[in-house]
Amino acid sequence: MNKAKRKAIIAGNWKMNKTRPEAKALLEAIKPLVAEAAGKIEVVACVPFTNLETAINVTAGSNVKIGAENVHFEKSGAFTGEISADMLTELGVEYVVIGHSERRQYFGETDETVNKRTRAALAAGLKPIVCVGELLWERECNITEEVIARQIKLDLWDVTAEQMANVVIAYEPVWAIGTGKVATDEQAQEVCAFIRAQLAKLYSAEVAEAVTIQYGGSMNAKNCAGLLAQPDIDGGLIGGASLKAEDFSIIVKAAVEG
Ligand code: 13P
Repeated sequence: MNKAKRKAIIAGNWKMNKTRPEAKALLEAIKPLVAEAAGKIEVVACVPFTNLETAINVTAGSNVKIGAENVHFEKSGAFTGEISADMLTELGVEYVVIGHSERRQYFGETDETVNKRTRAALAAGLKPIVCVGELLWERECNITEEVIARQIKLDLWDVTAEQMANVVIAYEPVWAIGTGKVATDEQAQEVCAFIRAQLAKLYSAEVAEAVTIQYGGSMNAKNCAGLLAQPDIDGGLIGGASLKAEDFSIIVKAAVEG
């Protein structure tokens, strides 16, 4: 399978942004701008929990899919402040971001909890966007590959080859997130190819070739074309630029052409 046969996915990660009226307005603006991508690539907006129902209503009948920003691994119970996979699927949520570096850095997320969340999401029928990436000093110490290999192995522990058809991997170098310091096309391609090689080792070449691997970290309307043209970059997980309808739609168009 080559790149053209993989599903390209451009996903916005809104993080902790937008009230409900703001979310509605942004999605109303995005919808017509990305309508041409229907049937060509997948367009996703991952929004705060409070916006999910609004987002699903606003995007009904359009080609914009909705994702959540996190999910808990238990089905229900005494887990104050958490949201279960069933709560998300019942709303009509399709994707969920798991293991974002901000969760790992600020909220004590570990590879073990990323793995548990990923397996719970898959069991409930959600498509997890599993985020991996190295810190700046890890890159400087030349251990990027060790870090990524470890994350991939632990985060996907006990995820079956069949389930991998619903898993998206996002490579997000932590030093590139929200910093304006985008990885070069070559740096991003190198690690995305490495991730695919790890998946081939853990599963098979066939499984690895079918997995959508996104790049994330300061991707924007100006730098997206070069990144999305790389052979192992099948899409993007977009933070800041996903909050501007025009910029987000330019990235979507680049992926359609990519
Ligand atoms: P920025 O695009 O704002 O750098 O954020 C990237 C990101 O964290 C997406 O998950």
